Amino acid sequence: MHYFRHKGWEIAEREATPEALFLNRRALLGAGAGAIAASGLPAFAAEDSDPSASIYPARRNESFKLDRDITPEKLNAQYNNFYEFGMDKRIFTRVDTLKTRPWEIAIDGLIEKPFKIAIDDLLKKVQLEERLYRHRCVEAWSMTVPWTGFPLKQLVDLAKPTSGAKYVRFETFLDPKMGPGQKQSWYPWPYVEGLSMAEATNDLTLMVTGAYGKPLAKQFGAPIRLHAPWKYGFKSVKSITRMSFVAEQPKNFWQSLQSSEYGFWANVNPEVAHPRWSQATEEVLGTGNRIPSTLFNGYGEQVAHLYKGMESEKIWF
Ligand code: MTE
Repeated sequence: MHYFRHKGWEIAEREATPEALFLNRRALLGAGAGAIAASGLPAFAAEDSDPSASIYPARRNESFKLDRDITPEKLNAQYNNFYEFGMDKRIFTRVDTLKTRPWEIAIDGLIEKPFKIAIDDLLKKVQLEERLYRHRCVEAWSMTVPWTGFPLKQLVDLAKPTSGAKYVRFETFLDPKMGPGQKQSWYPWPYVEGLSMAEATNDLTLMVTGAYGKPLAKQFGAPIRLHAPWKYGFKSVKSITRMSFVAEQPKNFWQSLQSSEYGFWANVNPEVAHPRWSQATEEVLGTGNRIPSTLFNGYGEQVAHLYKGMESEKIWF
């Protein structure tokens, strides 16, 4: 007899959003486009003209199930953090200046041979899959997203890091014409984030190139972003142009701006409050519900071992 043990972040199949509801992209987009047209706002950024459009949707990896419904695409695509395009959530209204082709990612630092790779060449070298992930922001809201991407480990293997590499440092583009928010000189542009090598090669760590069964909309961080679902959302750097393997722990964007509030690890812990936001509960966007948050955002089985013996350190912010 088959016995399937649910992990902390999984739920019974019957509770998951019916596939048709979110895979029916045309219907969703149709409804969204109507509402947006009526509001006079621009439609979602043009994924249809994306040269990688034909490779989506990717096969779903059924091991990754959710304990709540998928956040409707329309809501997710109109509630984003992407400071290169402004400080409010209405990034979708002004993200058109982001040009996602040509797009090259530099892979450098402590690896056998530094190289650059165009996004469409990279997409040919990796195995894409869809995963349903929770997404938890330090501002105490959460969403659930059908991401498409590939485990970062695949890219680490391509890069062939040397033994001195202890961390991976990610960088977003630096071009104030493309991201006018970068004209705000008090921010430490470009946006930088980092992971330890153990985190980067953990199976949960996803390089995301699509969402809702198609290439990433610009406001989600096209053409490629990170998602480490057990960490606060700010770790999930968008529109990546550079990945460097380094020996020292990189200082991230928010840490550089306000080290009293933000650190490197940023693992979700409902018992450790951020100076401005309690982390005990989260608003599940689109549901009207505020629910208790969970340690490592519910992914403890996969990642708690990475922090054994480090509990007294600042691993929560
Ligand atoms: N990446 C870049 N380059 N710029 C940003 O401002 N914001 C971060 C993260 N990645 C950000 C970024 C924050 S604070 C969050 S919560 C998530 O992206 C938001 O992702 P979403 O808009 O897909 O929900």
